[in-house]
Amino acid sequence: ALPKLSLIGTVVAAGLFLTGCGEDSKAAGPVILKTAFNQSEHNPQFKALQDFSQKLEAATGGKYKLEIHPNELLGDQRAALELVQSGAIQLAVVANPLVENFNKNFSVLAMPYIYDNPAHQRKVFTSGTLDALFSSTKGNGFEVLTAYTAGARSMYVKGAPIKTPEDMKGQKIRVMQSDTMVKMLTCMGGTGVPMGQGEVYSAIQQGVLDGAENNEITYADLKQYEVAPHFSYTRHVMVADLLVANESFLAKMDAADQATFRKLAKESTETEFDLFSQALETAKQTATSQGATFTEVDIAPFQARCKPLQETLLVTPEQKDIFNKIRALAN
Ligand code: GCU
Repeated sequence: ALPKLSLIGTVVAAGLFLTGCGEDSKAAGPVILKTAFNQSEHNPQFKALQDFSQKLEAATGGKYKLEIHPNELLGDQRAALELVQSGAIQLAVVANPLVENFNKNFSVLAMPYIYDNPAHQRKVFTSGTLDALFSSTKGNGFEVLTAYTAGARSMYVKGAPIKTPEDMKGQKIRVMQSDTMVKMLTCMGGTGVPMGQGEVYSAIQQGVLDGAENNEITYADLKQYEVAPHFSYTRHVMVADLLVANESFLAKMDAADQATFRKLAKESTETEFDLFSQALETAKQTATSQGATFTEVDIAPFQARCKPLQETLLVTPEQKDIFNKIRALAN
């Protein structure tokens, strides 16, 4: 009978809080962790976050749960990161280039051709190798909890498929909002135009852009094949996505909850890698059935042209150290 009684007690207490006082009433129910996500609820990362939330709720006896807002409802990634910094929300998934604006050492994680394949990237993200880098943003109001894969990014355009760096000449290609991404486009032979994800479809449609670069899942999910049907497998960069958390929210969690939270956040990376690889083929099939073409290309000339960029990203001893540690985990 005891559990029942205590349950009634909790419900009554919750009722009292709810009728009693505004904001503090939240103390009685689960603490809601507002989470910004810029892609749809079909994205494997969304599913991994849902799974993380369920496990967190179970492991903390219902104390915490995530409330995930997809589709840029809380703004694009740049806006979402600001909301996390200010503590207006607790969590967000943002691509590595956004965090690179706070600490240049992050740029190493998104260097063209730094990972040999998904298995290599998975090893890097789950090995603890990046922990020091991840906590280095403390002081800016946020911390990186873990990294998710976003596959390999490839080039897609209207017109005709890209096959060589020469084909990139004069092409305006959307990139994420960072200097490295703009430079990467230059090294590949085109022109990078930085913007948030939500504007890409209409910018291509209106001719402001000739195309974009992304993984197959985002390409298909956002129906970008409708405006840029020629997808070329340049696989030029595997950009990490980062799960970031507000710093003072973390500091206020009690030690045991914080340890559970951090552990489950890290474990969500394993789930996300599995879900991501499962979703890849379906995404490609969807796009193909809607008329998209997928072309294999010789990446060697692109790689050669990006070599000098690699060198400019390896300036400080910390950057070289991160680079060496990542390469040491190659299969
Ligand atoms: C990928 C990545 C996102 C990123 C997006 C983009 O989909 O997973 O985090 O926002 O690319 O190009 O903006």
